[in-house]
Amino acid sequence: MPIPERLNPSFASALPPAPVQFDPMEEARQRLIVALDVPSAAAAIDLVNELEPSCHWFKVGLELFVAAGPAVLEPLVERGHSIFLDLKFHDIPNTVAGAVRSAAGLGVRMINVHASGGPAMLAAAKTALEGVPDPPQLLAVTVLTSMDQAQVNAAGVDRTPGEQVELLARMCLEAGIRGFVCSPQEVARLRAITGPEGVLVIPGIRPAGGDIGDQRRIATPAEALRQGASYLVVGRPITQAADPQAAAERILEEMAAALTD
Ligand code: C5P
Repeated sequence: MPIPERLNPSFASALPPAPVQFDPMEEARQRLIVALDVPSAAAAIDLVNELEPSCHWFKVGLELFVAAGPAVLEPLVERGHSIFLDLKFHDIPNTVAGAVRSAAGLGVRMINVHASGGPAMLAAAKTALEGVPDPPQLLAVTVLTSMDQAQVNAAGVDRTPGEQVELLARMCLEAGIRGFVCSPQEVARLRAITGPEGVLVIPGIRPAGGDIGDQRRIATPAEALRQGASYLVVGRPITQAADPQAAAERILEEMAAALTD
């Protein structure tokens, strides 16, 4: 029941702001990013039509962007959704700076580069956003969630995935980048380094008993949030489900319960 004075605009400025009620489902919605890994704009729009009563964030990655181009973003942005443009730039500093500037003009809320591009590339990406009004959150991809110890070693890195993630994250922080993509298994380690300001975006999420596919360093939605994740990225467990909206709701409920603990 609203307080009567709050209905009278002449009282409004004299009153303290109404207490904001913590709504765990809404909080979960603000932290779930659905990966639209589909081959066409039509397939993406079909999924968004189905999921938008439940989901607010969508991720456009290489498969969809290469097939459909930047035009695929427009209807999503127009409908008020938040978009993570997951193109994982990794090139010489000048090229990455240009790509970051172009991406920043597309109305998306998150973009990313590969941390392994090195300090000069990271600094160029960061500098490219200076002066951009309301810039997207810049994220650095540490070690892909599909890489286990053997894959990391085969790529010439003589460390554990966790050690490599920490090394890359410290390099990014030096360059002024505070947003990261990492596996759920390194969230706690990164949260300890970044403190509450770090934006930790976590793929490799699998509900208990779900098919892991090509992912290797995984955790459940609840575990990832308890370890300190800011956002969860979920693709196939939602998009390949027989009923994607029901699958999204189940994940949101698990997230809401973990956020309430
Ligand atoms: O289907 P699934 O839930 O495994 O999708 C995970 C999504 O997160 C994919 O779109 C993938 O490209 C992306 N991603 C990832 N690992 C990273 C960065 C992004 O799995 N390190």
